Amino acid sequence: MLILCIIPLKSSLMKSLLFVCLGNICRSPLAEGIAKKIILEKKLNITVDSAGTGDWHIGDSPCHNSIKVAALHGVDISSQQSRQVTLKDFQDYELIIGLDDSNMTNLNKLGAKDALKLGSFGYKNEDVPDPYFFDGFEGFEKVYEMIESCVTQLLEEKLHD
Ligand code: 4NP
Repeated sequence: MLILCIIPLKSSLMKSLLFVCLGNICRSPLAEGIAKKIILEKKLNITVDSAGTGDWHIGDSPCHNSIKVAALHGVDISSQQSRQVTLKDFQDYELIIGLDDSNMTNLNKLGAKDALKLGSFGYKNEDVPDPYFFDGFEGFEKVYEMIESCVTQLLEEKLHD
């Protein structure tokens, strides 16, 4: 009986979302920034962060082109700092969202069994491609549009009040 009372209380208060890519400098910072913008606009009560499965960029700012494309859309991600995902994240965050299949594989290996892929929200489960390896800026615009569309649907489907 006690458990039945606590569970609904916890789930209604704790809405939290962690986006995970590889380096946490290109894609997941965009997802975090876009989600925070929507959450602010819609006055939702959701905590959002992002992280990478790799450790190469810990402490770094998002990549230049991600900061640029976000700014063009009115989203400031320049103060974010890359961090590596931790096992504690899997307890602390209600939803763990990977950006591509390799992120999902890495998350599953780390023990994040219920992680979901961002592309499953309106993009036929496609990977969000890694723009770090693209030539030029155009790829960042495409990636931004895809992330914005998927994050909007994710917030509607999973985390609306
Ligand atoms: P992200 O892109 O996973 O979207 O942040 C990457 C950025 C850097 C590296 C890998 C992925 N890297 O290997 O340095």
